[in-house]
Amino acid sequence: MDKFVIRGGKKLSGSVSVSGAKNSSLALMPATLLNSGLNIIENTPEVNDIFTMIKLLKQLGVESEFQNHTLKLYTSKINNQVAPYEHVKKMRASVYVLGPLLSRFGYAKVSMPGGCAWGPRPINLHLEAMKRLGAEITLEEGYIIASANKLKGAKIHFDVSSVGATGNALMASVLAKGTTLISNAAIEPEINLLGEYLNSMGAKISGIGTTSLEIEGVDQLYPNTIRNIPDRIEAGTLLIAGAITNSRISLANIDVNHLDAVLNKLEESGIKFILENDKLILDAENSSINSSDVTTSVYPGFPTDMQAQWTSLMTLADGISTVTDTIYLDRFNHVPELQRLGANIELVNNSAVVKGVKKLKGAKVMSTDLRASASLVLAGLASEGTTEVLRIYHLDRGYQRIEEKLKALGADIERVATTEY
Ligand code: EPU
Repeated sequence: MDKFVIRGGKKLSGSVSVSGAKNSSLALMPATLLNSGLNIIENTPEVNDIFTMIKLLKQLGVESEFQNHTLKLYTSKINNQVAPYEHVKKMRASVYVLGPLLSRFGYAKVSMPGGCAWGPRPINLHLEAMKRLGAEITLEEGYIIASANKLKGAKIHFDVSSVGATGNALMASVLAKGTTLISNAAIEPEINLLGEYLNSMGAKISGIGTTSLEIEGVDQLYPNTIRNIPDRIEAGTLLIAGAITNSRISLANIDVNHLDAVLNKLEESGIKFILENDKLILDAENSSINSSDVTTSVYPGFPTDMQAQWTSLMTLADGISTVTDTIYLDRFNHVPELQRLGANIELVNNSAVVKGVKKLKGAKVMSTDLRASASLVLAGLASEGTTEVLRIYHLDRGYQRIEEKLKALGADIERVATTEY
């Protein structure tokens, strides 16, 4: 097991490139189950969740090659429709295989994901959507068993906007007979990219990028190549690394359109930005950080996946800020760890009330989930003395060697093997 040892207080400078988005790759990869042949996904990040998805697809009969961020998936020998507990318990996004397997093969057996580190994450909307499309769903020994002779187009309305359920419903409906209408669909960039990829395979989806999708089922889809989008959450995390250390850094391989909410909030806190060609320069060198309230919401709102990192930034802001998560009400495991570094935070229901302090002081802290870990690394960069972040396997699920990027920017951070748990 590894930990990070961070000697904080260093200013950052220079430029790094952002990796491809984890959450879009995790949707694009199962989408290839819908065709037979060679699919290529460029700009795939080398992170552990992607390796978990590769293993799950292998279990289903998909062969792969993964080099230099180009992922090749061969889908002509799929011979199994079972997603076992050992994969699903590691990564909830495994449930993405449900829609495409059911749609192409008429059968899927997928382990129920269970709880997650910060509380319940139900999949009822995924199952409701499959039922609307005509699937019969039963639960047996912890597994969802879904079957249908042929899915049939239907009206699907989501009471709650869900990235995963929209993705699954899209992947199920593209091969269904007739027309499907999805309302209150998610419009996160990762889902829009999935829609575009499916269309490039021959699907007929209209309304991509809006909350109303219309899908005319087709008989067959064909393999294709797609270039993945940059990871907006990694970009946001690196921007906060620059802001929290009062530095000037620049990021390449980003899509600023996907970062509107985060950039707005950073500007509100007094941070300046310059867009130069395809690089975004963040300048926090001479600015103090002003407190700024954040409430997470679905895209294009402020992402829940940036809530923990924002909370870290606010621990050193002038004044009091309230950080509210409306997507995951309990996603605050980072708070007690930030308090170990000297942060002044009070949890009130689904809000962290953060009173800025003058400085944080290094300590040992523990990662509890992916974004919580990122928030601890950020706080460590700004803390006096040494911070050790334990259990960074959480971080490795979704950030590609983040310590190398931070080192390239001048941070003093080491990955060290440890038996500490
Ligand atoms: N929800 C339900 N029922 C469902 C599905 C969702 O009630 O069947 C609720 C959830 O409990 C939550 C809300 O709907 O309150 C939104 O959840 P969503 O389904 O959109 O989340 P997800 O698809 O499971 C993806 C990302 C998460 C990210 C959320 C929200 C992937 C692989 N995961 O999860 O990413 O937090 O959307 O934006 O795309 C991360 O990268 O750290 C991460 C957790």
